[in-house]
Amino acid sequence: MKAVLLAGGTGTRLRPLTNLYNKHMLPVGDRPMIGHAIAKVKEAGITDVVLVTGREAAGSFIAYLGSGREEGLSITYRIQEEAGGIAEALAQAESAVDPDDKIVVLLGDNLFEESLKPHAEAFAAQPDGAMVLLKRVSDPRRYGVPVFDESGRIVRIEEKPEQAATNQCVTGIYFYHADVFGIIRQLKPSRRGELEITDVNNVYAAAGKLTHRTLKGWWTDAGTFDSLYEAANRVRRGRR
Ligand code: DAU
Repeated sequence: MKAVLLAGGTGTRLRPLTNLYNKHMLPVGDRPMIGHAIAKVKEAGITDVVLVTGREAAGSFIAYLGSGREEGLSITYRIQEEAGGIAEALAQAESAVDPDDKIVVLLGDNLFEESLKPHAEAFAAQPDGAMVLLKRVSDPRRYGVPVFDESGRIVRIEEKPEQAATNQCVTGIYFYHADVFGIIRQLKPSRRGELEITDVNNVYAAAGKLTHRTLKGWWTDAGTFDSLYEAANRVRRGRR
């Protein structure tokens, strides 16, 4: 299984910091934000990484991570020319992933406590389709929110709904078979002009091929000033 780390986008909610730095290069505790995703990939025993970012920031990621050798990883870089959405960022990784492979996709602004290992093992045993990790949150309307049927299967995901169907959200940790790239090619841009990862997941859900597990421990994104501060505090407490 390869890991695809997505670290593009514009980081508008963290301006003016992100006028100067890519969001994923902002410090969270003892390292740049992206360093936490790298640590999680290593902990899961995954060694092949594809990192997708925008062209202005690519040099700083290479300066920080290089080939990945110091971390025992092999890192391949891909450029997302414009911030066309999470699914569009993921599409840039296609040429670095074998057609029969499986991938775990991490949004670079997601920080979390639990190891990915049990989830990666569960997905490795899943014959096809996709898997998302869910987390209970106090403000689900900020996120993708799953809608379940009576048997507990996700029938669809609603992106930032006005009324949330549950108090759980879809975290930015996604597991896919490499057929995901074919699905992305069929997508149409959303109303905000982006290729949405929630639309990708809804294709799998409609086909009955979207499974889910629940992430244990703390989880936060770090895309706003409040959540960036929370992430830094979580990391600091974890190191005491
Ligand atoms: O954090 C979990 C949430 O992430 C999910 O619950 C939502 O369903 C999902 O849409 C996403 O929502 P956000 O509004 O937080 O996504 P955002 O646009 O902030 O992008 C999150 C990450 O994706 C960011 O760290 C970098 C990457 N990204 C994003 C865009 C738009 C890219 O690499 N390229 C892009 O063009």
